[in-house]
Amino acid sequence: MQEILRELELRREQARLGGGQRRIDAQHAKGKLTARERLTVLLDEGSFEEWDMFVEHRCVDFGMDEQRVAGDGVVTGHGTIDGRPVMVFSQDFTVFGGSLSETHAEKICKVMDQAMKLGVPVIGLNDSGGARIQEGVASLGGYADVFLRNVQASGVIPQISMIMGPCAGGAVYSPAMTDFIFMVQDSSYMFVTGPDVVKTVTHETVTQEELGGAITHTTTSGVADLAFENDVEALLELRRFLSFLPLNNREQPPLRATRDPAERDDFSLDTLVPSNPNKPYDMKELIHKVVDEGEFFELQPNYAGNIITGFGRMNGRPVGIVANQPMVLAGCLDIASAIKGARFVRFCDCFNIPIVTFVDVPGFLPGTAQEYNGIIKHGAKLLFAYAQATVPKVTVITRKAYGGAYDVMSSKHLRGDANYAWPTAEIAVMGPKGAVEIIFRQDANDPEKVEARTEEYRQRFANPFVAASRGFIDDVIMPHGTRRRICGALKLLESKKLEDPWRKHDNMPL
Ligand code: HXC
Repeated sequence: MQEILRELELRREQARLGGGQRRIDAQHAKGKLTARERLTVLLDEGSFEEWDMFVEHRCVDFGMDEQRVAGDGVVTGHGTIDGRPVMVFSQDFTVFGGSLSETHAEKICKVMDQAMKLGVPVIGLNDSGGARIQEGVASLGGYADVFLRNVQASGVIPQISMIMGPCAGGAVYSPAMTDFIFMVQDSSYMFVTGPDVVKTVTHETVTQEELGGAITHTTTSGVADLAFENDVEALLELRRFLSFLPLNNREQPPLRATRDPAERDDFSLDTLVPSNPNKPYDMKELIHKVVDEGEFFELQPNYAGNIITGFGRMNGRPVGIVANQPMVLAGCLDIASAIKGARFVRFCDCFNIPIVTFVDVPGFLPGTAQEYNGIIKHGAKLLFAYAQATVPKVTVITRKAYGGAYDVMSSKHLRGDANYAWPTAEIAVMGPKGAVEIIFRQDANDPEKVEARTEEYRQRFANPFVAASRGFIDDVIMPHGTRRRICGALKLLESKKLEDPWRKHDNMPL
């Protein structure tokens, strides 16, 4: 009996060594943790229970029958984060470069299936060279099995990908179908094909970092939502991130007690909007001043900065915040910002997270670059997402709400529940100058007349009262009371019920 128990321990010890001490040392030398060390940081102490530790691959080609490693390059199982259950997989780069074999895929599918049955999130820590080359089509089939589960789980349970090493080929498509992608600076890469293939096909010379590093994907491509300095910071921030999300689409996001009073006024907001309508101000200041304890978890801060997205709490309740940022492109909506905003709105709507929208938008960005690249369809994504969302929607217009962008940004017409405006709001088809240039073109050469007409237009429309007189704005509110009014609206909206007619699925503009 003792002998058998000792053998189990021995087998476990061997499995924990993965690809061996030499490769573990190499992983550490690159500043990376091993697959198991990462799970220790991510999960509550002692909560991890590993599954399928003794699974081995079935490949016999290319001498693979001589090289079997228990676990086959991925550590899977479940644990808790802040006491809440999650299913996890963590790819082990020390075993065949974390590449995905048929059995490696089966292990991932097993935790995903379990996550769906239990209604709990799946977190993937990705560190993989892609399809296991020795296995050929068996490994491609394995990827497709994972992809299918990603799609079926979408909108049912949160799926989060943390990219923690080089991820190539199939290793990037599964993350692409999850809800959020996070990366680690200087050690993680994502590309469909690596620099060597790029060189052969397009003759471009590019480094891994330039092609698919954390900076590229958080600033240029927008593929990743955030990048962190190192493995430990990334995993601790992932724990914090999860505190904003429900476990599944039938649950409410978790409440967290706050000492920040819902009634708190902030008088500095009364002077946030400059008297010159063309002067920018920082919308993030408003966000930080209204959310609980100033805590805002921003996503994609360095991509499409003209729209701000992220999570905060209002009186303990998680909310998704979307805001135009006058400091970048004057807050105009363009292709990148519309897509960024739309995807975030859709996530919130999937997972019962109320949406708070702060509006200061002079319109859609004009120009050939935008038109040629399809602003019409891409802009429509944000419109579609807001119109479709049935979660509580609270909107505050701080300054400009012009043109189509007024409609798009969670307006009353798109089923906004509580739509407020500050007294500084200007709600019109366009700014006074542009309007006068069009409707009084005959006066263009007479500066005095232009000035008078502009002033007339400003008086008529550059305020919130015309919209309020129509009921498009529920109330014009004092800036200092913004937090109180949003918290009050969200409290009222707790019992909101809104259902759309049955359909197989929509056909949103893609
Ligand atoms: C099998 C692999 C592997 C793979 C790496 N290894 N990738 N084994 N299949 N895909 C092994 C290496 O042989 C090596 O084994 C160990 O992992 C570490 O790899 P290195 O190359 O030494 O590490 P590094 O220099 O850090 O480079 C990492 C890398 C590179 C950038 C990931 O290994 C690489 O380019 N791999 C191939 C990437 C790729 O083209 N994958 C297939 C994509 S096609 P030893 O024994 O020496 O430690 C695909 C199709 C799916 O995924 C499409 C579905 C839509």
